[in-house]
Amino acid sequence: EKGGFDHFMLKEIFEQPITIADSLRGRLVIPESKIILSGVDAIQDKLMQARRIIIVACGTSWHAGLVAEYIIEELCRVNVEVEYASEFRYRNPIISEDDVIIAISQSGETADTLVALERAKAQGATIFGIVNVVGSSIARISHAGCYTHAGPEIGVASTKAYTAQLAVLMLFALKLAKVKGTISEERFQELSKELQEVPEKVEWVLKNEVDNIKAIAYKYKDAHDVLYLGRGYNFPTALEGALKLKEISYIHAEGYPAAEMKHGPIALVDDTLPVVFVASKDAYHEKIISNMQEIKARKGKVIAVVSQGDDMTQSIADDIMQVPAIDEVIAPILTVVPLQLLSYYIGVYRGLDVDKPRNLAKSVTVE
Ligand code: F6R
Repeated sequence: EKGGFDHFMLKEIFEQPITIADSLRGRLVIPESKIILSGVDAIQDKLMQARRIIIVACGTSWHAGLVAEYIIEELCRVNVEVEYASEFRYRNPIISEDDVIIAISQSGETADTLVALERAKAQGATIFGIVNVVGSSIARISHAGCYTHAGPEIGVASTKAYTAQLAVLMLFALKLAKVKGTISEERFQELSKELQEVPEKVEWVLKNEVDNIKAIAYKYKDAHDVLYLGRGYNFPTALEGALKLKEISYIHAEGYPAAEMKHGPIALVDDTLPVVFVASKDAYHEKIISNMQEIKARKGKVIAVVSQGDDMTQSIADDIMQVPAIDEVIAPILTVVPLQLLSYYIGVYRGLDVDKPRNLAKSVTVE
């Protein structure tokens, strides 16, 4: 049932070229320059009028929401707020009929997310669900939605469900931008093409980088703390990389926006601290390079996810994990893959049960 892999987690990481393609199939129609998402059509008027979009989720799904905030604000020019479901439900949020809520959940059964949605729905908000498990509670309570097609995810740590969520959120953003007229035809075509190419770029990482990532995992398997840093579109990926490492290896890890480092976390840096940079090429690239140099100057070890051919960044980092060049808007689906593999192999080298980390449940149906 593990299809020849040692663990479900590894199998699910390797399934991603297929599950991402499955989540795009029949929806991204490039020759017609069109995105077919009937769930978006169903609430199109609400989306056009919405004062803001509120994204509600927990854990890894919340990280997908953060990526979506950057993309939807950039492409659709609408205000987006991303909320931890547990916080949103217990405070007294201001919700009106002009609000559209996007709920993101793999299981569709997360108690905090479900209750937050019930409350918001009672106050008149429109609920759009991005859910993996068909017919689950969150799918049923939503007014409209769009399933991710990741297939069953058995490993407790979310991997293929996350990249499927990102694929669907990118389709959502592109479609809404087109409907609202906030994207040029040229940019729409460009991003559609980039999205279409993601499965083969993920495949490239799985074919070419695994041995290298294994060696890096072995080298850092005894670390006590690891910092993950990124800027812009790469910032949520830093958070997700840190969460994955915590869950799977029990190593303390924190994700930060790279520029926040100097406001506190830099005090942690010494020659024992590995710092993982999500540093694929984007508009902030020079800034992230100078952040790397700040870590090096304090003798920290720099591990970086870098774009193929970016010799400059590769020469600064102690260890590199390469990804094919990709547009910064689409990059989060790709740059997380080496970080999933890094966590997996560190967990394996530490002799841990990577499919069932201690204290964790696949679906958190209690608050
Ligand atoms: C992390 C992980 C959890 C879930 C969170 C939300 O690897 O799996 O953080 O993402 O419990 O679960 P869903 O998406 O089912 O609502």
